[in-house]
This record gives sequence, C-alpha cells and structure tokens, in this order.
Amino acid sequence: MTKSVLIIDFGSQYTHLIGRKIRELGVYAEIYPPKYLHNVTNILNHSVLILSGGPDSVLNKNSPKIDIPLEQIPIPILGICYGFQYISKEFGGEIVKKDHREYGKTIIKSTKCSLFKDTPIEQQVWMSHGDSLSKIPKGFKVLAKTKNKVPAAIFKKNIYAIQFHSEVTHTEFGTQILKNFLFDVCQLKQNWRNNDLHQTIGRYFKINVKQKKPHIICAVSGGVDSTVLAFAISKYINLENVHFIFVNNGLLRKYDVKNIQAVFKSFNLKLNIINAEHLFLQKLKNVTDPEHKRKVIGSLFIEVFTKYIRKLEKQDFYLAQGTLYTDIIESRSFHGGKSVTIKSHHNVGGLPKDLKFDVIEPFKELFKDEVRRLGAFYKLNEKFINRHPFPGPGLGIRCIGKVNRQRLDTLRDIDEIFINFLIDKNLYHLSWQAFAVLLPVKSVGVMGDERTYEETCVLRCINSVDGMTANVTNFDIEILSEVATLIINKVPRVNKVLYDITSKPPSTIEWE
Ligand code: XMP
Repeated sequence: MTKSVLIIDFGSQYTHLIGRKIRELGVYAEIYPPKYLHNVTNILNHSVLILSGGPDSVLNKNSPKIDIPLEQIPIPILGICYGFQYISKEFGGEIVKKDHREYGKTIIKSTKCSLFKDTPIEQQVWMSHGDSLSKIPKGFKVLAKTKNKVPAAIFKKNIYAIQFHSEVTHTEFGTQILKNFLFDVCQLKQNWRNNDLHQTIGRYFKINVKQKKPHIICAVSGGVDSTVLAFAISKYINLENVHFIFVNNGLLRKYDVKNIQAVFKSFNLKLNIINAEHLFLQKLKNVTDPEHKRKVIGSLFIEVFTKYIRKLEKQDFYLAQGTLYTDIIESRSFHGGKSVTIKSHHNVGGLPKDLKFDVIEPFKELFKDEVRRLGAFYKLNEKFINRHPFPGPGLGIRCIGKVNRQRLDTLRDIDEIFINFLIDKNLYHLSWQAFAVLLPVKSVGVMGDERTYEETCVLRCINSVDGMTANVTNFDIEILSEVATLIINKVPRVNKVLYDITSKPPSTIEWE
C-alpha cells in the first residue's frame, strides 16, 4: 500500500494549501483532525506527519492536542506555526505570549542544511502568530532565525519545526523548503500524479450525480466559479433538466448583469434572471454588522431559490454551487479541525428541510487559480476568466455601515470609474483584485469655494494567487492620485479617497 503524508489539521486557514502543495510535488497527502491520532496504529499508514498551523495558543489549556506523545511517533515530523510551537512545548521548550504579534512578511536567515537547500541564506517568509519560542527545547538545533534573533526553524533527529508558513505563496522559497523536507530529509519517492482537473470533475459528476435524468438547479453568481461550473455541467449533463438561475440582488456593479447575459448567450445556455433587488434592499435596511449582513444576504438567496424551485414543482433535484475551498475554510473547518469562522461566505447555507435535494459542489476542494485553469481548458473567454473575483454578497459587504440605494449607487459610480481607469491604463491585470469600499466616515472638503461634508472611499488592490494570502499592489502614487481626482470630480457624495495598504493576514481582502 502506498503510504501518504499525514497532515493533522489544527485549524489553520492554510491547512488545505499544505495538502495541495505536497500533492503538486507528486506525493499523496491526506488531512485529518487531531482526534485521528488517538493511537499509534493509524500512524503506520503514513510516511510523514505534518502538524499544521492553527488559531489557538499552545498556552491555552483547551488548545487542540493529539493523544499520543510525539516521542512515540516513528516517522519524520514537520510542525508548521502552531505545529512548531506544539513540538517546542512538548519537548520542553518555552513559549511566551509576546506584546508584539508577528503577521505578514519577515526576513529569516538560515544555516546551511538539507531543509534550506537551494534557497538563499536570507529569504522572505510569511508569519502569522502571536506566541513566540523563548527557550529552545533540549537537544534541538536552530536552523533559521528572524532578524530579531527569534528562532524560525529548529530540528532534532527527524523532527523539524518551522514558525513560518511554507505553504503560502508569499513565502518566497516555501515550495522548495517543502520539497527539501519531503525528498531530502524524508527521502520520499513521488507516488502521486495530479490528474487533469477536467477528468477529476468528470469523475465527480459520475460518482455524485446518480439519477439518469437529473434535475439540476445551478446557482449562478455572475463570477468565474459558478460560470465555469455552469459550463462543466453543460459538458457532462443533459441540459434538458438543468436550470441556471441568476439572482439580481441589487448589490451588483453596473456591468454585472450585462456581462453574465453575454457569456451565457455565447455558450447558448439559457439563463433565468430573477429580479430581487427590492427584497434584498428592504431586508438589509437596518443591518450594519458584517456577519449579520452576510447571514441576511445568504438567507435571502435561499429564500429566492426556494420560491423558484417550488414553482418548478420538482420533487427531487440537485443544487449545484460553485463553492470553492476558500469559501468553506473561511466559513467553517473543512476537515473537522478547529478553524475559526472568519466570514460566513454566502454560498455555505442551507435550503429548507422539506425540499428534497442533494448539493453538488464539484469545486469545493479547488482554489480560484485551479478553477481559472479549468475555464481555460473549456475555452471560456480569457477576459472573463481573468476578471477579478467578486464576492457573492456583492457591494453589500463593500458598503460599510448602512446599505441603501443611494450609497450603493455612489459605490457603483466609484467602481465604474476605478475599474475603467485600470483597464484604460493597462493596469487591471497587474492586480489580482481591485475594488472600492465606501465608508460611513464623513470629512470636510472644499470644492469650488464651497464647503463639502461627504463620505470616504477606499481603494483596495491586492496581489494573490489563491486568495488565502495577499499583499498590496504597488501602484504608483501618481496613478492613485489621478484616479482619486477623477472620482472626487465625478462622484458628488464622496470627498476623500484612501488607499488600503494592509496585507492578508493580518487583514482580509474584503472589509466585511
Ligand atoms: P477575504 O475577504 O475573506 O476574501 O480575504 C478572500 C476572497 O474571497 C472573496 N469572498 C467571497 N467570495 N462569497 C464569495 O463567493 C463570499 O461570501 C465571499 N467573501 C469574500 C473575496 O472577494 C476574495 O477574493
């Protein structure tokens, strides 16, 4: 039997990325919650143990643990972030809470060793932790330190631990470090081939869609994921009984409806557009809390779908959603580990119990870049595939504070000017996601000798690969200032434009 790499999920937002990175390196990896290791027997099916990061502190009494002492584990171990601290603490090291938490880019200096083979001595890594190692566990050696001399990588025999996240793209040589660990330190051989994505999706439909002539209701949001899904469905399922539904919730940008209509027309697929603008705006009238907003929007989508489905009078059906792994991990833990809810993504909801249906989510283990690759394979319009992500709750979560028609219109005007500006200047593709946010913060301005007192808009442009980590797009201040002037001149209800310069983590990409 081929042994796999075992990843224990302590609840990090990035655990799934570790699995993906390892599989991309040609080694099969599986993710389990900590309780999986209640005895040593389960370890025997695996070649390597990886302890993931997590939101907890090892100093908390109830922080996640595995039942067996690490000393009894006969295979090589790599601890990442929380895993680093878990290993350190278990072997007698000292972890302390620091006033100064460390999130984002850090430079580390490494020694010459197998783990850091083919990487520069000084390199950029991505940190996301509050506690720090203050005393190295007995018998361990330090392999890398940060500029402040804090240990960033340690090892003893076949136990390695790194404080940074090797699995995120912003750790410059993260993949190389994982590669070194698997093939140099652990001497593994490749045992896994990443099948073509379209074959994987084809297999998903075969296994999960059981009836001969299934009724499928496919929720289309206007974004890349659900559109690629619609196209995938049209490849594998007879279209007679498929309903593509698009809800205009009034939280869209000026061009969203037009764009999605054009894409569906070009595939020759029928799109049912439901206008629910009034309902959404009515229910959002007094909602300002971000999670409450997301919950209201999510439940309204369900209400609209339910109504549509009841009219169809279908008894059994499938509900297809373009849910991505990122949607799931930020809403709840994927593998039963202890991830905290960062945001309730709109498409992780539930329809009423009296409707008989199964949810199919063929992309639920994929990241945005993988769905884009799939879209390219299906020969979807390149411009559409590469458009920036737009969240399901739309402008509702970019209109900070009250959501009403007037503020949404202001935001729509800003968005149009900003996005067209980036396209005209050939800058759009330099950012992974660019958008505007409207803040309910007023400031005083002066326009044509008149005093103004209006709200503030924030421009946010980030670079990312998968949406899990992000840094700020480095646009020239002159360019930003040019678009700020355009916005202020053309949109009457704002008089200040700010640029958001926070990375993810510690921030998230959207504001709510
Ligand atoms: P955050 O703000 O969590 O966003 O850093 C990561 C990526 O996900 C998008 N996003 C969403 N997409 N439904 C979606 O389909 C949602 O509820 C949702 N919330 C955030 C966000 O735009 C970014 O690309």
